[in-house]
Amino acid sequence: MHKIFTVCFLLFLLSGPARAGEGMWIPLLLGELNLVEMQEKGFELTAEDVYSVNAASMKDAVVVFGGGCTGSLISEEGLLITNHHCGYSAIQRHSSVEHDYLTNGFWAMSREEELPNEGLKATFLRSMEEVTASVLKGVTSEMTEEQRREVIAANSVALMEEAVAGTHFTARVESFFAGNQYFLFVNEVFDDVRLVGAPPSAIGKFGGDTDNWMWPRHTGDFALFRVYANENNAPSAYAETNVPYQPRHYFPVSSEGVKEGDFTMVFGYPGSTAQYVPSWHLQMLTETVYPQLIRLRDEKLEVMRHHIERDRAVRIQYAAKHASVSNSWKRWRGEIRGLEILDAVNKKQEQEAAFRRWLESDAVMHAAYGSLLEQYARVYARMETMQLGRDYLLELIGRTGMETLRLAGSFSPLLTMTDASEPDKEALKVEKERLLLALDAHFKDFYQPLDVEMTVVLLKRMREDLPAELQSDVFALIDKKFGGDVDAFVSDLFQKTMFTDRAALVELLQDASAKKLQVLRKDPSYRLYARLSKIYHNQIVPEYSRLRAGLDSLDRHYMRALQDFEPERRFYPDANFTLRVSYGQVRGYEARDAVDFRYYTTIDGIMEKNNPEIYDYDVPARLQDLYAQGDFGDYAREGHLPVCFVASNHTTGGNSGSPVVNSRGHLIGVNFDRAWEGVMSDLMFNPDQCRNISVDMRYVLFIIDKFAGAAYLLEEMEIIGAGLPEEKEAALL
Ligand code: ARG
Ligand code: GLU
Repeated sequence: MHKIFTVCFLLFLLSGPARAGEGMWIPLLLGELNLVEMQEKGFELTAEDVYSVNAASMKDAVVVFGGGCTGSLISEEGLLITNHHCGYSAIQRHSSVEHDYLTNGFWAMSREEELPNEGLKATFLRSMEEVTASVLKGVTSEMTEEQRREVIAANSVALMEEAVAGTHFTARVESFFAGNQYFLFVNEVFDDVRLVGAPPSAIGKFGGDTDNWMWPRHTGDFALFRVYANENNAPSAYAETNVPYQPRHYFPVSSEGVKEGDFTMVFGYPGSTAQYVPSWHLQMLTETVYPQLIRLRDEKLEVMRHHIERDRAVRIQYAAKHASVSNSWKRWRGEIRGLEILDAVNKKQEQEAAFRRWLESDAVMHAAYGSLLEQYARVYARMETMQLGRDYLLELIGRTGMETLRLAGSFSPLLTMTDASEPDKEALKVEKERLLLALDAHFKDFYQPLDVEMTVVLLKRMREDLPAELQSDVFALIDKKFGGDVDAFVSDLFQKTMFTDRAALVELLQDASAKKLQVLRKDPSYRLYARLSKIYHNQIVPEYSRLRAGLDSLDRHYMRALQDFEPERRFYPDANFTLRVSYGQVRGYEARDAVDFRYYTTIDGIMEKNNPEIYDYDVPARLQDLYAQGDFGDYAREGHLPVCFVASNHTTGGNSGSPVVNSRGHLIGVNFDRAWEGVMSDLMFNPDQCRNISVDMRYVLFIIDKFAGAAYLLEEMEIIGAGLPEEKEAALL
């Protein structure tokens, strides 16, 4: 029975169009088949409405928000909606214990009150075109991977330069289908993006890390920004004279809501997926890499939790760091579980067996692809260790690792510059200024007792977890000088290091001669950083990169082979942080035996969770009052105010903040998460369980209008359907 099921599933997997909801499609190439499918699900518009170079289309209302999220334009005056968690660090940067916008929310009550955000960008796609032939010009099958890469890089640079010559646009060339296809993207980047409104975290992050990646969900995960431009509607760095940007298109906001089965389209920037990797890749992740990283992060989270719970200032300092450590930690656990339930490794192995049989039956294909799988097996046998080592070291000295060490490491370019017999004075000055700014950022969110504990914990784990070939020589030193006592070593380090003394570092940067700076080389933090980074750069990166290049080449061939093997199947390229369309339907799901999830949640569920003792479930008093009064404006349906809904769109990290539109292209929600049972969709999609989670626009409007008292913001939106704010309704009469 099980066997038959597997075979059926496999046939299903291997043939025909992508399964319901599966796929992240290139907007330019939305083909006949996609459109037929979309229309069957209810879509009422055309491919041109989604993407057009000449006419205004939906693509003109979608941006890359910051470095890794999506955002949508929702008014002709540059108003932008994205997720609260995407605006989180911007909100945090404006927050202090006195002005705690994370806790209390922030609402600009006029344009003048909108807050500028240094470094925050909104990137619009202006056009895209396929450039495979030009990118691969001069590439031959005899070339080594390295030669191939050089030719591709040179061709790409030439194409990009040509595309934007004489304009203020920027360009990118991106590879699709593992290097079998290339597209050129021309973008317009706006760098004056101001904060307009954000609900308190108790709404925008309601449920916190406890509910993260889970359905049922009650998070009002949205924030509002505004894109500004100069008087020619073109990008300009922040200036008081800038004016709201007028987009070519913006999304009308629907307050009509959603029902089960409604068409949904998510239009945004999914970051990365790996749908076509061989079974060894899944084994490497689920058996080695994820379990180790999960254990390491268990401990990181424990250290943070301990300090965050005791001190409000520390909670603000570490809010974003904690959320980021917790986020992948939880997703990895979900992915392992989801892949196990799907029996994913076996499915891939069966697919590979079928592929082998096909090769045996076809001499031409055998000659082309005969050794692919064996080569994969060989590379992954070694990659397992290198992948773990690389990810592990990044956990130690990367963004959420040992902070003092990392700060010390950031002085390394300066020290290298001062080594030169005649250092470049101008470059030195620039580098010192960069470091002074970095010191501000570091110390604003630094709490030493936490970092001391973190350093101890991470060193201990490293010693226990990593294979001998990746161990650090620091442990020999700890054995010799501290009798193996890591705590003693770390406490000695923190007593001696200068990198916890901001004033001393500032003084050194401002006054010191090149020679004086050299004392930093002897600093114990700097030394430990150097030891660890040496392992990373000397023992891991070279071999890892070599293996990765090998895999890139295998992936490219395997992708082509799979397309020959299954000529009937409609393939979509893996996510690569380029603009994609995914379509599906509003749909609940059966989470496990006898547990059937409805497709939407309401404010009633927020009140059920309410518990002032639990930080993640502490409902703001004002929201409780509105609830008690039943003051939902026109946003409720039959007395219940909707909060979130799930649909069957194929999404991933980067899709946060993506517009979710209905059959007529009206904004019904803002995508912000996926449901726990389906987070393995980056590696294998299961139409029965993979769901994206969005905040319902009716809840967004309610919060802006009723909770924040910022109804003036609704006036610039084009709101379709019931649920108009009273003033607007009056104005329209
Ligand atoms: N899981 C969502 C995403 O991957 C939301 C993350 C932010 N929220 C949080 N509680 N950490 O980005
Ligand atoms: N929260 C994710 C993001 O920031 C989206 C959830 C997902 O991975 O699908 O992009």
